[in-house]
Amino acid sequence: MTAASSSLPHSAQTGPHEQLAALIARRAGNPFRKPVAPFSLEAFARFTTICDPARPLIVDSCCGIGESTLNLAERFADHFVLGVDQSSDRLSRAPALPSNALLLRADMADIWCLLRQHAWRPARQYLLYPNPWPKIGQLARRWPAHPVFPVVLALGGVIECRSNWRIYVEEFALAAQLIAGIDAPVDTFVPGEPMTPFERKYLASGHPLFRCVLPLAGRT
Ligand SMILES: C[S@@+](CC[C@H](N)C(=O)[O-])C[C@H]1O[C@@H](n2cnc3c(N)ncnc32)[C@H](O)[C@@H]1O
Repeated sequence: MTAASSSLPHSAQTGPHEQLAALIARRAGNPFRKPVAPFSLEAFARFTTICDPARPLIVDSCCGIGESTLNLAERFADHFVLGVDQSSDRLSRAPALPSNALLLRADMADIWCLLRQHAWRPARQYLLYPNPWPKIGQLARRWPAHPVFPVVLALGGVIECRSNWRIYVEEFALAAQLIAGIDAPVDTFVPGEPMTPFERKYLASGHPLFRCVLPLAGRT
């Protein structure tokens, strides 16, 4: 497949998954508890030794090769940008980063939980082009339907999700509404400069792009 012929996520869903609200309701009051993997713990320890807690933090979740981490570090030079991805292959292709950015190989759910446990308060969080898992039976694999999603919202800050699958972003907005009472619209947008390789690929393929920005989540 060439860079300009990426296919759109194919799904039998025509809107947010009909089980999403029930799934979230069933989990209410049951905090997500999963043992943190040792490799995530080690990675998090590196972060805490490097990051100056006095600087506002930006979390670039599932950052792939870290291009967005670099973009964010340049744009928010007075912030510290933490990019996290589980793929060592992707991270091995990362660009050189300035001193206000760090890439970690870790499980994102673990890092969200560790940040929360250690009372980190990101100023911003980005979830850019997460794997859509568009089949109906794959709902639980999508972050907005994942039991860790309340932790993401509780961490807080301005949280932005982008995807080329509108329904993913609609589910992100719906989950934020149901879990935290945050109302935010889903917009179609055209970025100036692509922020990530996936954004570049989807733009080159003529896909519409969607985003939802939660104005200020968390702070509980
Ligand atoms: C479609 S790619 C998007 C990458 C990047 N944000 C971009 O836009 O170019 C999704 C990324 O999510 C990462 N990922 C998926 N599940 C993850 C998890 N549980 N923890 C950390 N990274 C994860 C994958 O390794 C992959 O790099």
